[in-house]
Amino acid sequence: MTTGRVRAHAPGRVNLIGDHTDYTGGLVLPMAIDLGTTVEYEPGDTDRVVLRSSAEPEAAIVALPVDDPRSARPSWARYVAGVAAQVRPTTGGTGTLDSTVPRGSGLSSSAALEVSVALALGFSGTPVELALACQRAEQAATGTPSGIMDQLASAAGVEGSALRIDCSTLQVTPVPFPGDAEVVVVDSGQQRDLGGEAGRAYAERRASCEAAEAVVGPLRTATLDDLVQLRDPVLLRRARHVVSENARVRECSEALAAGDLRASGHLMLASHASLRDDYEVSTPELDALVARLTAVPGVHGARVTGAGFGGCVVALTDPGALAEGWHVRPVAGASVQPA
Ligand code: GLA
Repeated sequence: MTTGRVRAHAPGRVNLIGDHTDYTGGLVLPMAIDLGTTVEYEPGDTDRVVLRSSAEPEAAIVALPVDDPRSARPSWARYVAGVAAQVRPTTGGTGTLDSTVPRGSGLSSSAALEVSVALALGFSGTPVELALACQRAEQAATGTPSGIMDQLASAAGVEGSALRIDCSTLQVTPVPFPGDAEVVVVDSGQQRDLGGEAGRAYAERRASCEAAEAVVGPLRTATLDDLVQLRDPVLLRRARHVVSENARVRECSEALAAGDLRASGHLMLASHASLRDDYEVSTPELDALVARLTAVPGVHGARVTGAGFGGCVVALTDPGALAEGWHVRPVAGASVQPA
């Protein structure tokens, strides 16, 4: 149990490659980034958690114990309530929340919120346990069956490294990020909300994967040849994305570790094409942004990052190739200390 004032910090994440693979136990390659959420919190003799966010007009006031996180108001309080339902602090308290992660852009602002709030409320456990608790909080808050990538990247980040995560074992393998490369994140300006329309599309994609698995077995071990058994053209395309994306994560991890930016960039472009054509989670705006960025000299590759349906594009570049966007670097995972 936490006593006294604490400061918790959790980074957002950008996913370099491996989208819509986590919920079938596949491979992903995100990195925790130097945009994050900081919570200052003081437990007190009260049965309510009260958090004020610098970005929100209304405080999140969550009565303990939490019954149904989705009934919390305003809407950002659902995430706080979802976390409180997992951490189950014995007392409430008050605090403030500040975030540099842009919301609704695919950089895991909600995971950074959940992980920082969980630590502030006194969660204790391994990074994997922290991520699993926060994934349950996210699912309870949004009603969307999201995977483990975002919370685990935020909890288990490694300074200077991307993280190759096997989402079936939750094993995290650091992949040192090349010193002569930059990751630039550019916002398409199209916000999306995994608690709304995008959440429904996300759940539909996940259901398609389950339907494909009922025919061909686990997608994480399936080969492209196995997919000939799929008669439904939509299921075939969805499954083909997942199987080919897992292979691209494997190759891209090796290429990055070897400092091969060209090969990594090609794999990112192939990932974007697969998310656009087979998984159908891109938008014309994201496609145009990827095309515009990859035409710039020194840009090795670019792709939509995260769930899609809007949000950001991530680019792998030579240093200084792009003036726009957020230039992010891989940082350590979440932490908490006395304040
Ligand atoms: C969202 C989810 C993740 C993952 C990505 C797509 O960010 O929260 O679990 O499924 O979409 O890769």
